[in-house]
Amino acid sequence: MTAASPAAQPRIRLTPLAERHLDATLTWANDAELMRLMDRVTPVEPDGHRRWFEGLRNREDCRYFAAETIDGDHHVGNVWLWNIDPRHRRAEIRVVMGDVTARDRGLGSEAIDLLATWAFQALGLHRVYAYVLAINPRAQRAFEKAGFRAEGLLRGDRWSGDMPVDVYLLARLASDTRP
Ligand SMILES: CC(C)(COP(=O)(O)OP(=O)(O)OC[C@H]1O[C@@H](n2cnc3c(N)ncnc32)[C@H](O)[C@@H]1OP(=O)(O)O)[C@@H](O)C(=O)NCCC(=O)NCCS
Repeated sequence: MTAASPAAQPRIRLTPLAERHLDATLTWANDAELMRLMDRVTPVEPDGHRRWFEGLRNREDCRYFAAETIDGDHHVGNVWLWNIDPRHRRAEIRVVMGDVTARDRGLGSEAIDLLATWAFQALGLHRVYAYVLAINPRAQRAFEKAGFRAEGLLRGDRWSGDMPVDVYLLARLASDTRP
């Protein structure tokens, strides 16, 4: 999928995660700084990574995509829907621009926007939400650029290292008007 908006020239496409994306995805999953920002603590082993990938196709509760540059087919990151809840028409969205050279160029917010729009149009969801650690202002800004609004601050919601960390809840509704 690519951006539906004619306003900005799309620079990335989202494509279902495939074999060719697995090595980079595993590297990013075990990167210490990405683990910290994404509140993950358990390293991923290659065998487990493959089993996880093969299990994805049978899952109804998540949809996982790679973000590739349109100009160059470069795999720059992943974005996915998690905890898809058809009854309440909502899902959590998570994102990683694992390629450090891809960050701060607007690609992360484009990937978030693409997937949120797809979730509303293709899955009929009404609400897409994200939890962002307060130590991660770049991610908060990327979600806001993609039309998400901060709904609240969950004080001390996560324990990270040796201290509690606040978490922002951000969401975008299908009915939200975009600036
Ligand atoms: C978070 C992430 C997905 C955002 O993707 P990205 O391509 O870097 O984001 P964008 O370029 O679209 O937007 C980033 C914005 O944050 C701003 N920003 C960067 N560092 C910042 C900081 N320390 N404080 C505030 N804003 C910051 C950028 O300037 C940019 O805003 P602007 O366009 O108004 O200038 C990406 O940086 C990433 O993968 N980070 C590591 C993993 C992660 O944090 N995942 C999200 C977990 S919730």
